[in-house]
Amino acid sequence: MSKVTVVGAGAVGATCADAVARKELANEVVLLDIKENLAEGKALDLFQCAPIELFDSRLVGSTNDYSKTAGSDVVVITSGLPRKPGMSRDDLINTNAEIVKNVTLKILEYSPNAIVIIVSNPLDTMTFHAKRVGNLPQNRVVGMAGILDTARYRAFLAMELNLSPKDIQAMLMGGHGDTMVPLPRLTTISGIPLSEFGLSKERIDAIVERTKMGGGELTKLLGTSAWYAPGLASAQMVEAIMRDQKRVFPCCTYLNGEYGLKDICVGVPVVLGKDGVEKVIELQLTDEEKALLNASANAVRSMNEVLDKLN
Ligand code: 2OP
Repeated sequence: MSKVTVVGAGAVGATCADAVARKELANEVVLLDIKENLAEGKALDLFQCAPIELFDSRLVGSTNDYSKTAGSDVVVITSGLPRKPGMSRDDLINTNAEIVKNVTLKILEYSPNAIVIIVSNPLDTMTFHAKRVGNLPQNRVVGMAGILDTARYRAFLAMELNLSPKDIQAMLMGGHGDTMVPLPRLTTISGIPLSEFGLSKERIDAIVERTKMGGGELTKLLGTSAWYAPGLASAQMVEAIMRDQKRVFPCCTYLNGEYGLKDICVGVPVVLGKDGVEKVIELQLTDEEKALLNASANAVRSMNEVLDKLN
């Protein structure tokens, strides 16, 4: 029997569980939360979509009973506080570090072989934290950010060019924060380089800037952080792993010398398949791109130092 657990039945977790069940990525989808009855309620509501949407993944809710998660193939950790307007992702570190540590340890107690996807913020530091506290190998812990950030970038380009978002492919690197590095040079529309579409440098720069602030723009509009695209981006990673798709995605992964970066989790292109992060793809970056990636990695490192001081 295949099983996927989503920890945190808030908006992101529930959206992810919904997508995982609808796509029938596992026989059982467990939703777990510390808040009494929340996960049970959402799981029941979601399973009542099954006769309408015609899927047969079972949804199971649990109030903090990790025995229900036992034997999961993939676990998505969305727990922690979301941002409020005016907060940066980094402002969440004190609370979320403790939560991510406890959840990771509990999950691994019941699913010692699971592949763990981290969604909690600050994303890159929380991925690093989960890797360390869980003593996980590089392939088994991965952070969700790049798929979301490139989706935002691709959506903005689709709006700007009045073209289908389906045809816009992009890569993005670095941390899930204001220093992230979208890569217009490697952006294509059905294989045609973005440079062929006549957008001025100013317009492209504006789209890159809007992408970097994409989460903040939504937090301001919504009063809390976004959930539809973050939830679906997480489910897309679950799909790549459960179906062994070998998809190439920007993901936050532990680096051990790749891109000249060591002992840090940060976004780079990877191959996602049944073993989790099966490969880190090393691109030839321009000097400018390298400098931006290094600056982003430095921002992540400063956050990791805050984490170390907490410990
Ligand atoms: C975002 O960018 C929640 O960090 C997430 O919307």
